[in-house]
Amino acid sequence: MFELFTKKEPNILKYLNADVHTHLLPGVDDGVKDLETALSCINEMKRNGINKIYVTPHFQTHRFKNDEDDIKYRFDELQKQLGEYVSDIELQLAGEYLIDSGFEERLKTKNLLAINDKYLLVEFSFNQSMLGMEELFFEIQMKGYEVILAHPERYHYLNQDSKLLNNLKEQGVYFQSNIMSFGGFYGSESMKRAYQYVDKGWINFLGTDIHGKKYRDALVDVCKKSKFQKLLKKNTFLNNQL
Ligand SMILES: [Fe+2]
Repeated sequence: MFELFTKKEPNILKYLNADVHTHLLPGVDDGVKDLETALSCINEMKRNGINKIYVTPHFQTHRFKNDEDDIKYRFDELQKQLGEYVSDIELQLAGEYLIDSGFEERLKTKNLLAINDKYLLVEFSFNQSMLGMEELFFEIQMKGYEVILAHPERYHYLNQDSKLLNNLKEQGVYFQSNIMSFGGFYGSESMKRAYQYVDKGWINFLGTDIHGKKYRDALVDVCKKSKFQKLLKKNTFLNNQL
């Protein structure tokens, strides 16, 4: 079946206003390579209706060993440079934390970059399930944070475990889907699940999870899709309350 495209609403992301998940610090982890790419992504996001961006670099124990103080410095640099090129866009710093062997230690320090000091954006390994997810999320909640699980539609093992997904929702875990999932950027299975989860009322936040130019181009494409535009108009997400 042909997907209908329309260009009637060039700023369709105004329904969200804020993007809660991006990798826009130049040269940091697997995010944008340089300032030019960051600016190009930010300009495109703004053109599509985003006015507030949470920059959420990876915090992992093994692969991306970012340090909160270094990341704060780099974020300040980006903001200074951004001011020369783009106006009317608000940038805020947070992080995307991988639930791995070192996470509990990090949690003890409470030196975490949460969205508005409230919502902690976390991700799982894409390869293997982890035991005790519910207990760990409870621990995070006990520290005073709300948990946002990034892109649940992208974990194949998790999507085969509807009981666990149900338990996480009952436990008050917020879910954030990737906007480009709705355009098939991560494959047809992830796309199908993203739409299903929105229909179930499970998805509380949307984010681009933008890492560079090919994500930027996929974002432009999905924003033109009428099915995605309808989804934004029909459902309420918490992005615009931030
Ligand atoms: Fe991410």
